[in-house]
Amino acid sequence: MTEIIDGNAVATDIRDSLTGGVETLKADGVTPGLATVLMSDDPASETYVSMKQADCEEVGIESHHVELDTDAPAEDLYDAIEDLNGDPSVHGILVQMPVPAHVDERRVLRAVDPMKDVDGFHPANVGRLVVGNDRYRPCTPHGVQKLLEAYDVETEGADAVIVGRSNIVGKPLANLLVQKRGDGNATVTVCHSRTEDLAAKTRAADVLVAAAGRPEFIDAEMVGAGATVIDVGVNRVDADTEKGYELVGDVDFESAREKAAHITPVPGGVGPMTRAMLLYNTVKAAGLQADVDVALP
Ligand SMILES: NC(=O)c1ccc[n+]([C@@H]2O[C@H](COP(=O)([O-])OP(=O)(O)OC[C@H]3O[C@@H](n4cnc5c(N)ncnc54)[C@H](OP(=O)(O)O)[C@@H]3O)[C@@H](O)[C@H]2O)c1
Repeated sequence: MTEIIDGNAVATDIRDSLTGGVETLKADGVTPGLATVLMSDDPASETYVSMKQADCEEVGIESHHVELDTDAPAEDLYDAIEDLNGDPSVHGILVQMPVPAHVDERRVLRAVDPMKDVDGFHPANVGRLVVGNDRYRPCTPHGVQKLLEAYDVETEGADAVIVGRSNIVGKPLANLLVQKRGDGNATVTVCHSRTEDLAAKTRAADVLVAAAGRPEFIDAEMVGAGATVIDVGVNRVDADTEKGYELVGDVDFESAREKAAHITPVPGGVGPMTRAMLLYNTVKAAGLQADVDVALP
């Protein structure tokens, strides 16, 4: 029997327990604050930012928002980040990517105070993660780990195959799963567009994570019997819907579910977890900065 991994349910549990963490902080006089910074008029980026603000409200995190014109000088963005770094009511800073072409994305990542880097993309936090001493795990890979944990999927000794090597998903997840500890200890293979015989590698996976941004390209033929399939992909494809499109993952869900023991749907799998783990990092950040012990889920 294939078990469908319910990301909405796991994310709800995490949010519920974070609400308790927020109460602990508030009892100590600290209201956790997350600042979103938007320098884009892309409707998808605007939607992501407003979803993050609504998520904050739900658990009692105060949201702050800074918006810059897309043609504003890059310095304005760096200055805005500097101001937020110095604002004690802001514990987490999230700069919505992508930024306009005239802005140096790497400089943006470096500009955020590592203590407030709730995305976990600052080079100092990336380095800590690689050596197994992480401060803020990037939200999507952390969400994947939490899904595996919630469904008792063992990573210890497992062959984990990740399709995709981006800095936000594939690489940090590989670095997490390979760590010498209980939620790691996997043998990790990272595949990408130059990988030879991809299907042979994905079929050998006990845990297969698809993060390539290719609609439904992993089908039953690429999945080994009894594997756990985690679909990170979110792709818009034309469809006869009100919006004119629908969202599909990187996995052909209907065929792959025939082979998998566990599988995430899209939507309703990894997506809600990414959002929940941003709240997790913000609560953690507030606890670290205010020196308050907060129990995290
Ligand atoms: N659910 C969520 O919360 C969430 C969060 C983040 C991202 N996403 C989604 O996850 C997907 C990946 O995002 P991303 O930012 O990591 O993407 P990305 O930066 O575009 O990276 C895609 C990776 O997939 C590899 N790839 C592309 N086509 C391939 C193929 N045919 N065979 C093997 N590897 C292939 C690329 O290889 P090369 O390196 O060789 O180019 C690259 O490493 C997207 O659909 C994105 O929307 C979802």
